[in-house]
Amino acid sequence: MAMTAAPTTAAPSTAASPTAAPTAAAPTAAAAIATASYASPLFHIQRPLNIFIAGGTGFVGRELAVRLVRRGHQLRVATRNAAHGDELLPLSSVEIREGNVYSVDFLRSCLDGCDVAINLVGALNPPGGAAAGLRRVHVQFTAALLAAIAEAGVPRLLQMSALNADAEHGASHYLRTKGEAEQLVRGSRERLDWTIFRPSVIFGPADSLTNRFAVLLRLTGGWLPLARARARFAPIHVGDVAEAFLRALAGGSTSRQTYELCGPDVLTLEQIVRLTAAAAQRSCHIWPLPDALAWLQGVAMQCVPGKPFSVDNYHSLLIDSVCRTSGCGELGIQPVSLCALAPLWLAPHSLAPQGEAPRG
Ligand SMILES: NC(=O)c1ccc[n+]([C@@H]2O[C@H](COP(=O)([O-])OP(=O)(O)OC[C@H]3O[C@@H](n4cnc5c(N)ncnc54)[C@H](OP(=O)(O)O)[C@@H]3O)[C@@H](O)[C@H]2O)c1
Repeated sequence: MAMTAAPTTAAPSTAASPTAAPTAAAPTAAAAIATASYASPLFHIQRPLNIFIAGGTGFVGRELAVRLVRRGHQLRVATRNAAHGDELLPLSSVEIREGNVYSVDFLRSCLDGCDVAINLVGALNPPGGAAAGLRRVHVQFTAALLAAIAEAGVPRLLQMSALNADAEHGASHYLRTKGEAEQLVRGSRERLDWTIFRPSVIFGPADSLTNRFAVLLRLTGGWLPLARARARFAPIHVGDVAEAFLRALAGGSTSRQTYELCGPDVLTLEQIVRLTAAAAQRSCHIWPLPDALAWLQGVAMQCVPGKPFSVDNYHSLLIDSVCRTSGCGELGIQPVSLCALAPLWLAPHSLAPQGEAPRG
């Protein structure tokens, strides 16, 4: 077995903490995966795994980390800045490694002894401009990770993509670079066992979707000029996304599959804003922008610190973000509804954690 310590008793670790990698005497990670026993042939792994997560400090990563630790797995999270992982520190059996995440050597050292790698790295408006910045975050990072995975002999990769990702025909740099990263994963070495996830927009107490609109509505007294108001989404709860990753950990029938992940409600952007306003008990007066003005809004907002909206985001909104196949159904997940849950964190005096600005 690849584990060294009982994960539920391991102390939270920091950037400076020593690695909890398996001993040299342990069987290889690949052999361990092959002999792992499952409570059900598909989803339930009975033994703890060593799991590497890139992008584990983010909105999805934090939710996934909590669930993985609860099930007894041992995590190693790579980050550009150890402080980004502060919220993970209370979790047992999580090791934070700070370093140059684009360095194959750094990633290789993080992957030592791991059974599974999870790639959650992504950004909507990273530094460096839409084309070069997104290429670096999605394509260059995935290429470095795949090289490190090959060197370390890690047998399994779970790759986060996005609905409508398409290397050739994607509507935006974001969607094209996500598609290119998918292509790299699919074209990787024979022995790598991968699964790709393509969610629609993801919601939850710490999201940057509903929380951002709630802040905007508060700042503007409820008046909102809205780009692509009729663009449709099927928002999926962060817990359902994390559950999809958990169910694919073991491989089995999820190996070499791509899952589209959508929630039960198909909503226009305008409906999402109205729902947010209702949950937050704010007034709401939406001015749907014609496309030319929406594009100009992107031009203006990408110059604002934090780039809350961009021309590339506008291009992503040109295509509906709704599933053609039900990944949740295939994985046995019954997704929860944004309409039902939004008041839990948006209602005035809610104690749930609020969203944070995405990091570039
Ligand atoms: N949230 C959604 O609605 C949604 C929808 C579809 C797909 N996705 C995809 O799901 C994944 C997770 O999303 P999320 O909402 O959890 O994002 P998030 O909160 O912004 O976290 C993204 C992670 O990526 C890393 N990262 C960000 N910018 C980077 C850069 N310039 N270079 C290297 N690393 C960088 C960060 O790690 P460190 O800061 O620790 O280095 C961070 O932990 C992403 O791949 C995203 O594209 C999200």
